[in-house]
Amino acid sequence: MKIIIHGGFFGESHTDPVTKKKKQDALIAIVKESYEYLKTHTALEAVMHAVTQLEDDPLFNAGIGSQIQSDGKIRMSASIMDGKTQKMSGVINIEETKNPIQVAFKLLPFEDRILGGEGATNFARMNGFEAFSTEIPQRRKEHEAKLASHGLGTVGCVAVDKDGNIAAGTSTGGKGFEIPGRISDSATVAGNYANAFCGVSCTGVGEDIVSNATAAKIVTRVTDGMPIKDAVEKTFTELKAIEGFAGVIAIDKDGNFYHKDSHVCMVYAKFDGNDLEVFG
Ligand code: GLY
Repeated sequence: MKIIIHGGFFGESHTDPVTKKKKQDALIAIVKESYEYLKTHTALEAVMHAVTQLEDDPLFNAGIGSQIQSDGKIRMSASIMDGKTQKMSGVINIEETKNPIQVAFKLLPFEDRILGGEGATNFARMNGFEAFSTEIPQRRKEHEAKLASHGLGTVGCVAVDKDGNIAAGTSTGGKGFEIPGRISDSATVAGNYANAFCGVSCTGVGEDIVSNATAAKIVTRVTDGMPIKDAVEKTFTELKAIEGFAGVIAIDKDGNFYHKDSHVCMVYAKFDGNDLEVFG
């Protein structure tokens, strides 16, 4: 059993040691608690559990604390993928919903598995997710000051359970100041992907992540026999060629972890029951 989570890119992590420490402490608490949860749940359930907690923490740009778009509204995106069944489901630009990852999870058994905009929000309401404002005063202040906030944050989790099944989940509040209707990578196979061999969750500039087909490419390479480190490194060489800005966390079926980011500013934590590692 292994679990790795990330809290996205945060520029201020490197300039404000207090915030950086708070994020590291939050990641440590969430990864440890989610590991306990994984002992009695599937990888899929544990990923939803971990991402829910990341969405609930206003320190991270997903769920509560999400970025505000150019028209003053918050629209979030999230997806979850079960490596065992290779089913992925997601919501794109969902509004006023506390936990987009839980809506994505709810969608998994449906034939239509990626919903966007009003359809995603309506699906949430019809399935018991009450309207909930995920705005926090700090984001509104930043928006009013026309600051690009701390952009590029996203949260994610990849886990492998006791039966060797892998799952991946990713949730984001977006870039901030985007044109309404912009599609994030987080509910696409470029930003979140898993199969029986590998699972990957991405953070960074959605446009770069999609241009590089990042998560799907890494998983395909591992599936074809490439070691996880080589698969990530090769994919990041290709990302660099397009001057891309991204970070990934990944686990393969043997429980090997790998993580990388193009600009050394991703916060993440991993735990296997013994060794805890946190960076950011
Ligand atoms: N990676 C999050 C976004 O670009 O929306």
